[in-house]
Amino acid sequence: MKNILVISGHTDLSVSLANKTILETLELKLPQAQIVRLDSLYPDFKIDVPAEQEKLIWSDIIVLQFPIFWYSAPSLLERWMEETFRHGFSHGSTGDKLKGKKLILSFTSGAPEYMYSREGAMGYEIDDFLPCFKATSRLCQMEYEGYIYTGGLSYGHRTTPELIDQQIQKSKEHADRLMDLLKTL
Ligand SMILES: Cc1cc2nc3c(=O)[nH]c(=O)nc-3n(C[C@H](O)[C@H](O)[C@H](O)COP(=O)(O)O)c2cc1C
Repeated sequence: MKNILVISGHTDLSVSLANKTILETLELKLPQAQIVRLDSLYPDFKIDVPAEQEKLIWSDIIVLQFPIFWYSAPSLLERWMEETFRHGFSHGSTGDKLKGKKLILSFTSGAPEYMYSREGAMGYEIDDFLPCFKATSRLCQMEYEGYIYTGGLSYGHRTTPELIDQQIQKSKEHADRLMDLLKTL
Protein backbone atom coordinates (compact mmCIF):
# COMPACT_ATOMS: atom_id res chain seq x y z
CA MET A 1 0.00 0.00 0.00
CA LYS A 2 1.25 3.48 -0.84
CA ASN A 3 2.06 5.86 1.99
CA ILE A 4 -0.08 8.97 1.58
CA LEU A 5 0.97 12.17 3.31
CA VAL A 6 -1.51 15.06 3.39
CA ILE A 7 -0.05 18.41 4.40
CA SER A 8 -2.72 20.90 5.42
CA GLY A 9 -1.44 24.43 4.85
CA HIS A 10 -4.47 26.33 6.16
CA THR A 11 -3.29 29.00 8.61
CA ASP A 12 -6.29 28.55 10.95
CA LEU A 13 -8.53 25.52 10.57
CA SER A 14 -10.70 26.73 13.48
CA VAL A 15 -12.30 29.23 11.10
CA SER A 16 -12.30 26.92 8.08
CA LEU A 17 -15.27 25.16 6.57
CA ALA A 18 -13.96 23.80 3.25
CA ASN A 19 -10.49 22.58 4.18
CA LYS A 20 -11.72 21.36 7.56
CA THR A 21 -14.45 19.29 5.85
CA ILE A 22 -12.04 17.93 3.24
CA LEU A 23 -9.58 16.83 5.92
CA GLU A 24 -12.30 15.27 8.09
CA THR A 25 -13.69 13.39 5.09
CA LEU A 26 -10.23 12.06 4.25
CA GLU A 27 -9.68 11.01 7.86
CA LEU A 28 -12.93 9.07 7.76
CA LYS A 29 -12.58 7.46 4.34
CA LEU A 30 -8.80 7.19 4.06
CA PRO A 31 -7.67 6.36 7.59
CA GLN A 32 -4.32 5.02 6.37
CA ALA A 33 -3.26 8.51 5.22
CA GLN A 34 -1.06 10.58 7.49
CA ILE A 35 -2.65 14.02 7.85
CA VAL A 36 -0.51 16.88 9.08
CA ARG A 37 -2.25 20.04 10.26
CA LEU A 38 0.46 22.66 10.11
CA ASP A 39 -1.64 25.29 11.91
CA SER A 40 -1.95 23.23 15.09
CA LEU A 41 1.63 21.92 14.96
CA TYR A 42 3.26 25.23 14.12
CA PRO A 43 1.13 28.22 15.20
CA ASP A 44 4.44 30.08 15.67
CA PHE A 45 5.70 29.09 12.18
CA LYS A 46 8.70 27.37 13.75
CA ILE A 47 8.86 24.22 11.66
CA ASP A 48 10.49 21.09 13.11
CA VAL A 49 12.57 20.38 10.02
CA PRO A 50 13.88 16.86 10.87
CA ALA A 51 10.35 15.75 11.87
CA GLU A 52 8.83 17.07 8.64
CA GLN A 53 11.60 15.62 6.51
CA GLU A 54 10.99 12.22 8.15
CA LYS A 55 7.34 12.38 7.10
CA LEU A 56 8.38 13.24 3.55
CA ILE A 57 10.84 10.35 3.44
CA TRP A 58 8.08 7.99 4.66
CA SER A 59 5.64 9.09 1.98
CA ASP A 60 5.08 7.79 -1.53
CA ILE A 61 2.42 10.38 -2.36
CA ILE A 62 2.35 13.93 -1.03
CA VAL A 63 -0.90 15.92 -1.12
CA LEU A 64 -0.69 19.64 -0.46
CA GLN A 65 -4.12 20.68 0.85
CA PHE A 66 -4.74 24.43 1.10
CA PRO A 67 -7.03 27.37 0.45
CA ILE A 68 -5.86 29.81 -2.21
CA PHE A 69 -4.66 32.96 -0.45
CA TRP A 70 -3.72 35.80 -2.78
CA TYR A 71 -3.50 33.49 -5.77
CA SER A 72 -0.98 31.29 -4.04
CA ALA A 73 -0.50 28.96 -1.09
CA PRO A 74 -0.94 30.32 2.46
CA SER A 75 2.19 31.66 4.17
CA LEU A 76 2.36 28.69 6.54
CA LEU A 77 2.58 26.19 3.69
CA GLU A 78 5.18 28.32 1.94
CA ARG A 79 7.17 28.42 5.19
CA TRP A 80 6.92 24.65 5.58
CA MET A 81 8.23 24.19 2.05
CA GLU A 82 11.00 26.77 2.45
CA GLU A 83 12.21 25.01 5.58
CA THR A 84 11.84 21.34 4.66
CA PHE A 85 12.80 21.38 0.97
CA ARG A 86 16.46 22.07 1.67
CA HIS A 87 19.45 21.89 -0.64
CA GLY A 88 21.06 18.50 -0.08
CA PHE A 89 17.73 17.00 1.00
CA SER A 90 15.27 17.64 -1.78
CA HIS A 91 17.52 19.03 -4.50
CA GLY A 92 21.13 19.76 -5.34
CA SER A 93 23.77 17.26 -6.42
CA THR A 94 23.25 15.12 -3.28
CA GLY A 95 19.61 15.93 -2.55
CA ASP A 96 17.36 13.21 -3.87
CA LYS A 97 15.11 12.33 -0.94
CA LEU A 98 11.95 13.32 -2.82
CA LYS A 99 12.91 11.61 -6.06
CA GLY A 100 10.06 9.57 -7.55
CA LYS A 101 7.48 10.69 -5.00
CA LYS A 102 4.16 11.78 -6.42
CA LEU A 103 2.80 15.25 -5.79
CA ILE A 104 -0.86 16.27 -5.85
CA LEU A 105 -2.22 19.77 -5.24
CA SER A 106 -5.64 19.97 -3.59
CA PHE A 107 -6.97 23.46 -3.10
CA THR A 108 -10.04 25.64 -2.71
CA SER A 109 -10.85 29.22 -3.63
CA GLY A 110 -13.38 31.81 -2.60
CA ALA A 111 -14.07 32.98 -6.15
CA PRO A 112 -16.13 30.60 -8.26
CA GLU A 113 -14.42 28.52 -10.94
CA TYR A 114 -15.83 30.55 -13.84
CA MET A 115 -13.97 33.68 -12.70
CA TYR A 116 -10.70 31.88 -13.31
CA SER A 117 -10.45 32.33 -17.08
CA ARG A 118 -8.69 34.68 -19.50
CA GLU A 119 -11.93 36.59 -20.07
CA GLY A 120 -13.17 36.31 -16.49
CA ALA A 121 -12.63 38.55 -13.47
CA MET A 122 -9.24 37.04 -12.58
CA GLY A 123 -7.82 37.20 -16.12
CA TYR A 124 -6.04 33.86 -15.70
CA GLU A 125 -6.91 30.18 -15.69
CA ILE A 126 -6.49 28.46 -12.33
CA ASP A 127 -3.66 26.39 -13.86
CA ASP A 128 -1.76 29.62 -14.58
CA PHE A 129 -1.11 29.99 -10.85
CA LEU A 130 0.59 26.62 -10.46
CA PRO A 131 4.00 26.86 -12.25
CA CYS A 132 5.94 27.32 -8.98
CA PHE A 133 4.63 23.98 -7.70
CA LYS A 134 5.33 22.27 -11.01
CA ALA A 135 8.87 23.69 -11.17
CA THR A 136 9.54 22.69 -7.56
CA SER A 137 8.32 19.20 -8.33
CA ARG A 138 10.59 19.02 -11.36
CA LEU A 139 13.65 20.34 -9.50
CA CYS A 140 13.09 17.78 -6.74
CA GLN A 141 12.59 14.94 -9.27
CA MET A 142 9.05 14.39 -8.08
CA GLU A 143 6.19 13.30 -10.30
CA TYR A 144 3.51 15.97 -10.52
CA GLU A 145 0.15 14.22 -10.73
CA GLY A 146 -2.12 17.24 -11.17
CA TYR A 147 -4.63 18.99 -8.99
CA ILE A 148 -8.09 18.79 -7.48
CA TYR A 149 -9.77 22.17 -7.25
CA THR A 150 -13.07 23.55 -5.98
CA GLY A 151 -14.07 27.22 -6.20
CA GLY A 152 -17.00 29.19 -4.84
CA LEU A 153 -16.19 28.49 -1.18
CA SER A 154 -16.05 32.05 0.09
CA TYR A 155 -16.64 33.13 3.69
CA GLY A 156 -19.04 35.79 2.38
CA HIS A 157 -21.45 33.14 1.14
CA ARG A 158 -21.92 31.36 4.47
CA THR A 159 -24.86 33.47 5.50
CA THR A 160 -27.62 30.82 5.76
CA PRO A 161 -27.67 27.18 6.90
CA GLU A 162 -28.54 26.16 3.30
CA LEU A 163 -25.52 27.97 1.85
CA ILE A 164 -23.28 26.46 4.52
CA ASP A 165 -24.66 23.01 3.73
CA GLN A 166 -23.94 23.56 0.03
CA GLN A 167 -20.31 24.40 0.81
CA ILE A 168 -19.96 21.36 3.06
CA GLN A 169 -21.36 19.18 0.28
CA LYS A 170 -18.97 20.67 -2.29
CA SER A 171 -16.06 20.07 0.08
CA LYS A 172 -17.05 16.43 0.60
CA GLU A 173 -17.27 15.97 -3.17
CA HIS A 174 -13.82 17.54 -3.43
CA ALA A 175 -12.46 14.93 -0.99
CA ASP A 176 -14.12 12.17 -3.05
CA ARG A 177 -12.49 13.44 -6.24
CA LEU A 178 -9.14 13.53 -4.48
CA MET A 179 -9.60 9.93 -3.34
CA ASP A 180 -10.51 8.90 -6.90
CA LEU A 181 -7.24 10.40 -8.13
CA LEU A 182 -5.28 8.71 -5.34
CA LYS A 183 -6.77 5.34 -6.34
CA THR A 184 -5.25 5.68 -9.82
CA LEU A 185 -1.70 6.09 -8.48
C1 LIG B 1 -6.06 36.09 3.23
C2 LIG B 1 -6.99 35.50 2.22
C3 LIG B 1 -6.69 35.57 0.88
C4 LIG B 1 -7.53 35.01 -0.07
N1 LIG B 1 -7.19 35.09 -1.40
C5 LIG B 1 -8.00 34.52 -2.33
C6 LIG B 1 -7.64 34.58 -3.71
O1 LIG B 1 -6.60 35.08 -4.11
N2 LIG B 1 -8.50 34.02 -4.61
C7 LIG B 1 -9.68 33.42 -4.23
O2 LIG B 1 -10.41 32.94 -5.09
N3 LIG B 1 -10.01 33.33 -2.92
C8 LIG B 1 -9.20 33.86 -1.97
N4 LIG B 1 -9.52 33.77 -0.64
C9 LIG B 1 -10.68 32.95 -0.24
C10 LIG B 1 -10.24 31.56 0.24
O3 LIG B 1 -9.57 30.86 -0.79
C11 LIG B 1 -11.46 30.76 0.69
O4 LIG B 1 -12.05 31.47 1.74
C12 LIG B 1 -11.05 29.36 1.14
O5 LIG B 1 -10.68 28.59 0.03
C13 LIG B 1 -12.16 28.67 1.89
O6 LIG B 1 -11.63 27.57 2.57
P1 LIG B 1 -11.79 27.36 4.15
O7 LIG B 1 -13.24 27.32 4.46
O8 LIG B 1 -11.08 26.09 4.41
O9 LIG B 1 -11.10 28.52 4.84
C14 LIG B 1 -8.71 34.34 0.33
C15 LIG B 1 -9.04 34.27 1.69
C16 LIG B 1 -8.18 34.84 2.64
C17 LIG B 1 -8.53 34.72 4.09
